[in-house]
Amino acid sequence: SCHSTISYRPIRPSDIEILEQIHGNIFPIRYESEFFQDVAHGHGIVSWAAVDHSRDDGKGDEPIGFITARVVLATESEILDLLKKDSAESEWSLVYILTLGVVDSYRNLGIASSLILEVIKYASSIPTCRAVYLHVISYNFPAIHLYKKMSFKCIRRLPGFYLIDGQHYDSYLFVYFVKGC
Ligand code: ACO
Repeated sequence: SCHSTISYRPIRPSDIEILEQIHGNIFPIRYESEFFQDVAHGHGIVSWAAVDHSRDDGKGDEPIGFITARVVLATESEILDLLKKDSAESEWSLVYILTLGVVDSYRNLGIASSLILEVIKYASSIPTCRAVYLHVISYNFPAIHLYKKMSFKCIRRLPGFYLIDGQHYDSYLFVYFVKGC
């Protein structure tokens, strides 16, 4: 299958231009150049790029998909109420997925699923981590389908969470519980 030529690695500074370009193409929301700097330099953000080694256009190391995430304190998050009460609560952490995307020509090959699994593996390796969570705009059915398939639970609908070109859109909050919940 095509999966065998896809591999996953951290995003690095030489990826900034292509990463910024892909984000611009596939998201309705603009991201500041500071965001891409932080991603590429690992400043408070963990990331994975999917690359296709079998490309014969000399771009075998160029990202064709990505996932970015941030580790946050559970007590500073909006989902503390979803976690079982515990005396170690103040130390709990969560992994928040910021962006996930795959370029058009590489969709439906399982690449986004693999990128999510990388984040789940990472979260599971952090002893204090209780869950992985994210927001998704309510009309993004491919992404909603994907998160459900990956065993994320849809926890709540947040009215008007996104503001795009002066229009408000609802979001869904999806959570994947890592352990003990
Ligand atoms: N409608 C419903 N389901 C769909 C559609 C669709 N149009 N397209 C794909 N799917 C399903 C597939 O069938 C598959 O599920 P299945 O295995 O049950 O068939 C699943 O969604 C896709 O699985 P993957 O192949 O792992 O996902 P892919 O690599 O194609 O990437 C992604 C999915 C990331 C949503 C891609 O379509 C994309 O980049 N979209 C634009 C950006 C985006 O929406 N990102 C997520 C926003 S939320 C966030 O960033 C936190």
